[in-house]
Order: sequence, then C-alpha cells, then structure tokens
Amino acid sequence: MEVIIRPDAESAGLLVARIVATDLRANPHLVLGLATGRTMESVYRVLVRMHRKEGLDFSLCSTFNLDEYVGLAPEDSRCYRHYMNEHLFRHVNVDARNTHLPNGQAADLEAECRSYEAAIAKFGGIDCQLLGIGRAGHIGFNEPLSAFRSRTRVKTLAPLTLQQNAELFGGADRVPRRAITMGVGTILESRRCVMLATGADKAEIIAQAVEGPITAMISATALQLHARCTVVVDEAAANRLAGSEYYRRIFATEPEWEQFRNLE
Ligand code: GLP
Repeated sequence: MEVIIRPDAESAGLLVARIVATDLRANPHLVLGLATGRTMESVYRVLVRMHRKEGLDFSLCSTFNLDEYVGLAPEDSRCYRHYMNEHLFRHVNVDARNTHLPNGQAADLEAECRSYEAAIAKFGGIDCQLLGIGRAGHIGFNEPLSAFRSRTRVKTLAPLTLQQNAELFGGADRVPRRAITMGVGTILESRRCVMLATGADKAEIIAQAVEGPITAMISATALQLHARCTVVVDEAAANRLAGSEYYRRIFATEPEWEQFRNLE
C-alpha cells in the first residue's frame, strides 16, 4: 500500500483524477471501476473538466460501478445509476453501453450478481478501481464480516451505513435495506486500487484500514493484501496515521510520483 497525503480535499480529489487520466491516456480501452459517495464528487468534477479542456477521451473505455441499492428505479435520484449519470457519464464521451452498474431491480438478484461478475470477466477484468470508504470501514457495500473471497452479491446494510446514508433518504428507516455490491474478492482482483478519503470523520477508520490488523470486520483492511493499492487522503483524514512522515517522504522522492507532485 502507498499512502499519499494532500493538503486538502480538493487537491486529494485532483490527484485521484490525474491518476485515472494518466491510466486512461496510457490505455484508451481502460476498464475503470467506479465508486459513488460525496467524496468521489470532486474526482468526477475534475475528470469532466479534463474532458472539456484537455480532450480526455472516454470513448473506448468501459466502467463497472462497485454497488447499487436493491429496489430503486434507475430514474430515482438516489440510486447510483442516477448519481453516475449526473456526476460523470452525461458530461463525458463514454459510450453508455459500456457503463455498468448492478441492476438492483432485477427479478432474480442472484442471477444479476452472477451476470455482473461474468461481464467484468468478459471485459478482461478491472484495470483501475476507485474506492471510497464508509465510516464502518466498508469498501463498496462490503459490510462487517464480508468474506475476503466474496464475489458480487446482495448484502444487508449495517446500522452505521443506514445512518450514514440517512440524510439522502430523509431518515435511516427509509434507506433501502439491501444493496448489490462487488465482493471483497472481486475488488482485490482489479489490477490497481485507488482509495480516496477526506475529512476528519474518516481519520480514525483510515488509520485502522491502512495500519490496523487485517480483519473482516473492516473490509478496507483487505486492501493491505493488494499488490498495487494507493490510498489518497487529505490532512484531516491523515490525522491519525502513525507513519505519515514516511508516507510523505515516499511521495516527495519516488520518481513514480514526480509527475503528480505539482498538479493544477
Ligand atoms: C457508500 C458507498 C461506498 C462509499 C461510501 C462513502 O456507502 N457504497 O462505496 O465509499 O458511501 O461515502 P462518502 O464518500 O459519502 O463518505
């Protein structure tokens, strides 16, 4: 794992967007794993800007989102398909046929999960997977005790997750009880993972995810097993990390990061 600490949320989001853009330019057929949540909004804002101003080309890439609520219609403003349309898809030249989210309204949810896994495999696997982190330490909707070998499946949401998403639904009791999510095993198979976390309320869980013991209680700790995972945080979210001086030195000196040090 590598940890990169940026001064604020905006520059952290900018760095993640630049990483994605660099991968996309190197491989126009990139298979991009996408995440939702407030944190990711800044990444998508920058990607849209790069498309408009720098001609960043999404025409050949394909996308797979981590998760989707069960039971919401695609037009529902709270579902993740709607989020992705609003924050990214309709502003860039991605081919809608190449954008994938699990269908939370499928009559047979288990079959839907199997076909989502099959679609990822058919596209050759995910090259670069974006990840946020929930306050309970989940990636996607891999709630506490998610098996590290789990595949795309239906998960029942944990109380803390319902609470965290309550605002959007007008109360925790109105949040859908279940979601389809890529499994921890699915996520670990992507060739690269980039996690973004910002703000003081993520500081404790980021310290546990990055430096704590590996445990199925916190699915983000599984990323410690990934061969190529970059965690990007702002100062506020880095606040509880024990090794921050070391992480800063790596970012400041490793040639790999040179092109990412002074971003606009
Ligand atoms: C939801 C999503 C996660 C996301 C998390 C964090 O639970 N399923 O993929 O990482 O929210 O959201 P936020 O960025 O709003 O804190």
